[in-house]
Amino acid sequence: MSALITSTYFCLFCILCFSIRIRSDPRYHWCPDTATYSPNSTYRSNLNQTLLSLSSNGTWENGFYTYKVGHGPSDTVYGLFLCRGDVNTDDCQQCVKDAITDVLKRCPKEKRATIWYDYCMLRYSNESILSRLEMSFTLYLSNMENITDEPNRFRQLLGETMNEIASEAVNSNLPGKKFATKIANFTEFERLYTLAQCTPDLTSGDCDICLRNAIPQLRTCCDNKKGGRVIFESCNIRYETYSFFDPTTVLEPQPTPNIPPIQPPAPSPSTTGQGNGGISKQVILAIVVPIAVSLVLFFIGSCFLKRRTRKEPHGAISFVESLQFDLNTIALATNNFSADNKIGEGGFGSVYKGAFLNGREIAVKRLSKSSGQGAKEFKNEVVLIAKLRHRNLVRLLGFCLEGEEKILVYEYVPNKSLDYFLFDAEKRQMLDWSKRYKIIRGIARGLVYLHEDSPVRIIHRDLKASNILLDGNMNPKISDFGMARIFGVDQSQGNTSRIVGTYGYMSPEYAMYGNFSVKSDVFSFGILILEIISGRKNSSFYQSDGAEDLISYAWKLWRDNRPLELMDIKLQNTYVRNEVIRCIQIGLLCVQEDANERPNMASILLTLNSHSATLTLPRQPAFFLRSRTQYLPKVQDSYKPTSAWISFSVNEASISELYPR
Ligand SMILES: *[C@@H]1O[C@H](CO)[C@@H](O)[C@H](O)[C@H]1NC(C)=O
Ligand SMILES: *[C@@H]1O[C@H](CO)[C@@H](O)[C@H](O)[C@H]1NC(C)=O
Ligand SMILES: *[C@@H]1O[C@H](CO)[C@@H](O)[C@H](O)[C@H]1NC(C)=O
Ligand SMILES: *[C@@H]1O[C@H](CO)[C@@H](O)[C@H](O)[C@H]1NC(C)=O
Ligand SMILES: *[C@@H]1O[C@H](CO)[C@@H](O)[C@H](O)[C@H]1NC(C)=O
Ligand SMILES: *[C@@H]1O[C@H](CO)[C@@H](O)[C@H](O)[C@H]1NC(C)=O
Repeated sequence: MSALITSTYFCLFCILCFSIRIRSDPRYHWCPDTATYSPNSTYRSNLNQTLLSLSSNGTWENGFYTYKVGHGPSDTVYGLFLCRGDVNTDDCQQCVKDAITDVLKRCPKEKRATIWYDYCMLRYSNESILSRLEMSFTLYLSNMENITDEPNRFRQLLGETMNEIASEAVNSNLPGKKFATKIANFTEFERLYTLAQCTPDLTSGDCDICLRNAIPQLRTCCDNKKGGRVIFESCNIRYETYSFFDPTTVLEPQPTPNIPPIQPPAPSPSTTGQGNGGISKQVILAIVVPIAVSLVLFFIGSCFLKRRTRKEPHGAISFVESLQFDLNTIALATNNFSADNKIGEGGFGSVYKGAFLNGREIAVKRLSKSSGQGAKEFKNEVVLIAKLRHRNLVRLLGFCLEGEEKILVYEYVPNKSLDYFLFDAEKRQMLDWSKRYKIIRGIARGLVYLHEDSPVRIIHRDLKASNILLDGNMNPKISDFGMARIFGVDQSQGNTSRIVGTYGYMSPEYAMYGNFSVKSDVFSFGILILEIISGRKNSSFYQSDGAEDLISYAWKLWRDNRPLELMDIKLQNTYVRNEVIRCIQIGLLCVQEDANERPNMASILLTLNSHSATLTLPRQPAFFLRSRTQYLPKVQDSYKPTSAWISFSVNEASISELYPR
């Protein structure tokens, strides 16, 4: 990995060439000269065709378009453009046209090129770029002006706001976009303008990884600055203290003719999700209600019949059959997967709340189509997971497998997830120490069951606050376990082709090499403990005193003998000193860099339950962010991190510094 990092590319920035006459902004381009084509090659003629198609056949409304042409591996060209989410179609079109003329001047023979403007980005390559997470090149742009008043509060506001819009962009309900902006109030007169965008071809999970990687880099490039941008090929973020986007287009997206599909099996990715904008609720209701009513009338009969025949008392229904639901029943229960019923979106698909006719509430996970699993394997894994029963696990009630559809049906857990409470300044107060301690122990019990006591050992691989659901009594229930199996992600210990974890919770060996084991879950559990105690998210940690992330911060306080300072101030009146210190100690032991030094879940549970059990002292844990680039999730085999920095003044006309590395 370090060899890859040191293997740098040439970054070709022709900063001074931009002409002030052109209304468009500074543009930046990147085209490594490791792959080139000759002027009259097939590649060039295919590139000509690609650029022509991008400029003439582009779907300007969505601001995103992809094109591929070519047959052989050596002459295929993949191209795309992305316009900033708030940019109108005319400006988008103009920007892409400028980009096409420009890019050939700046990258006359390179097979791979990316060019960025304020309004748009254009990319092409001889390698497939569609639906691929690409973060190997980073462009940092930083405003030269410093924040003068209350830099710490600014940093905190920036961190929080960025984090919010990252989630919003991931779950965006703007049709065909993964884009969000927010204006936050810094002082009475000063505003903070923020923007986040992914290329919409990414999955929500990849978009999340991309943005969560970008946000902490603002500290690298732009700490204390009045504006900054971190730009990857797959996503970018930006903030300024002046208005640089058009808030009207963002707040009132064009109404679109996208209507929730009538046939149950058709997905409706562009109209689902919560947040601002999108189709108005009335429209959805007006469409959905009549559909729902007719569905009810239509399905009641068949549904009853099926349930009855299935429950026919021969005592001989197999376990598998008892788990199988038909699609009509699920569609009926979820109002035909209506946007109003949607309660979440994860790496594996969307989650809907639903209720059976008998009133039983369920959560329905509709798996995205990319599951590589055949029907038989899918059923086998579901049966296996459905056999797991523990009060700290969300119970899998069954599944539905019809045509393209793969659906999992879970018990419904009423109180949302831990992150909903923990990372919200107001709601966090509802979690006093006894509740948080109960949650920590409950998660530990659930994990001990998965790791040691269940019929088959399950490694969760994506343990995080949003996967801890809370029931009516605030008892934690782990969700999403076994997903890697059900979804058909490679199970062999060692190398995985697809990493399913979440940035900020992944152990170094998992993030870097794809090695997972019970100890990678232990690492994530350690992060969870530190988050529960501090009320802070590891992935978006901003702290004023020089510590770089939650782990380092917790470690420094521990080393300096003031561990309690880690604690969320909201716990001041309710905490039990010994319990908190013990939990911090366990948390730090769990995040040791060497997996062998992390305790296993059974011994952790023992120490949580007994006040006398002795604990080893933690050593300096794995520091995530200090060498962040080394821990970027493995995205592609050919992983070549490079970056360039540019600072600019407020009017963006004078570019003063350039540090290609
Ligand atoms: C792209 O071009 C480079 C250099 O010519 C080559 O090494 C690489 O294999 C090509 N990629 C594909 C997918 O053909
Ligand atoms: C380009 O075409 C010309 C004439 O058609 C030919 O002489 C030349 O060799 C070609 N160049 C390359 C690099 O293929
Ligand atoms: C590509 O287009 C340029 C200008 O539009 C033209 O000069 C060139 O000959 C074209 N190349 C090929 C290989 O078609
Ligand atoms: C644009 O789309 C039309 C219709 O799909 C197609 O006939 C035409 O070839 C496309 N143009 C380019 C340059 O790809
Ligand atoms: C901003 O702060 C840095 C370091 O504190 C200083 O070197 C730089 O000159 C300042 N820039 C401006 C424009 O004041
Ligand atoms: C910011 O301040 C303005 C005017 O003072 C107010 O209208 C607006 O609601 C505030 N926005 C937020 C997010 O607090």
